Amino acid sequence: MGLGYIGLPTSALMASKGLRVTGVDVNPRVVETVNRGQIHIVEPDLEGLVKKVTEAGMLRAALEPVSADVFVVAVPTPTRGDEHIPDLSYVESAVRNLAPQLQKGNLVIIESTSPVGTTEKMAALLRELRPDLNGDFSMAYCPERVLPGRILYELQHNDRAIGGLDEVSTRKAIDFYRHFVRGNLYPTNARTAEMVKLVENASRDVQIAFANELSLISDAAGINVWELIDLANKHPRVNILRPGTGVGGHCIAIDPWFIVHDYSEQARLIRTARQINNYKTLWVVEKIKNAALTFEMEHGRKPVIAALGLAFKPDIDDLRESPALAVARMLKAEGMDVVAVEPNLTGDSYEEFRLADLPTALQQADIIAFLVAHKPFIGLEVPAGKTVLDFVNAVSYHPGK
Ligand SMILES: NC(=O)c1ccc[n+]([C@@H]2O[C@H](COP(=O)([O-])OP(=O)(O)OC[C@H]3O[C@@H](n4cnc5c(N)ncnc54)[C@H](O)[C@@H]3O)[C@@H](O)[C@H]2O)c1
Repeated sequence: MGLGYIGLPTSALMASKGLRVTGVDVNPRVVETVNRGQIHIVEPDLEGLVKKVTEAGMLRAALEPVSADVFVVAVPTPTRGDEHIPDLSYVESAVRNLAPQLQKGNLVIIESTSPVGTTEKMAALLRELRPDLNGDFSMAYCPERVLPGRILYELQHNDRAIGGLDEVSTRKAIDFYRHFVRGNLYPTNARTAEMVKLVENASRDVQIAFANELSLISDAAGINVWELIDLANKHPRVNILRPGTGVGGHCIAIDPWFIVHDYSEQARLIRTARQINNYKTLWVVEKIKNAALTFEMEHGRKPVIAALGLAFKPDIDDLRESPALAVARMLKAEGMDVVAVEPNLTGDSYEEFRLADLPTALQQADIIAFLVAHKPFIGLEVPAGKTVLDFVNAVSYHPGK
């Protein structure tokens, strides 16, 4: 259920290992594309595999579920509004949709990143919708931890935590994943498996927040934060991450809210980390605005600001929840003259900003703001006379270079 970044590669991989798969998606365009042996997402090696398994008749896509031994749910689980409320409507709708096809002894697995207790809730919903089954079905949660760009490799090789609602469910789910996973499969219960995924991302978020907080403290103390972290990390048991423009992407910036929402009294550090990482983006905007104000006072005109990088992390083109993009947008909304450089986007693929190549932007800009540590920005020679604001250590501190 769901043929996106997770569901489609998983379906294709299962089909390539001899399982007969019906990939269900509510989007007709996705269903048509997959049935043509093509793909609608960007992921290395996926198109060849989808072509192979659809031609072999092992994978077909459909708008509606069919009867099956195993149902795997991989639909979106976003958060809603400023309160960051987990939105389970897609999972619920997928479960309602599969319910009529469920037969005694079937296994239902949820892979969507979900708040703790979701698997229990969906099992209760299925029992309500199908009282005739008398609860005779198994249900498990198995989180996904793949890295886009390496999905097909990581689906097979990463270890997994697999948590059933009871021991039979856990065992059946482990037997199922054995068909296509080479990594270790660790049995647990559903609530723990749900929390495992959330804390993996919350852990990254908290550690990045620590680095971001150090960048604010260092700025106030007149210390180069990059040198500070480099030297602190010489300690054999210290490993501080890198500060930046904030935290983006569709996982780390979202999943910790699932914990904060449900355990608001206990999750104080996790909430604060989210707030620090979001605040860092506003702080970056303020720094650039102050530099712009100083420039305007000195030169009697508004500066051209080069925003170097728009993606949410180095060397990718993914703009989802990107703090760099948020910075560029806020500057533009304040009436600033922004020229953006995003080497991972092709020139005409992004309309919102004037995109320029790096030499043009460097030449045009009065203020150069490094927002993402893309490879072409590292150690860049910036023309003299420009104001440089380096939020990602593109040029600030590279000892020995
Ligand atoms: N993409 C990742 O790298 C990643 C990594 C770990 C976990 N996850 C989690 O996996 C889940 C899926 O993420 P994704 O990136 O594959 O999402 P996606 O947006 O790429 O794909 C989801 C697909 O589900 C379809 N869909 C929506 N409602 C449906 C329904 N009721 N029935 C059938 N299909 C439906 C959509 O049309 C879409 O094609 C999310 O919970 C996400 O947080 C994603």
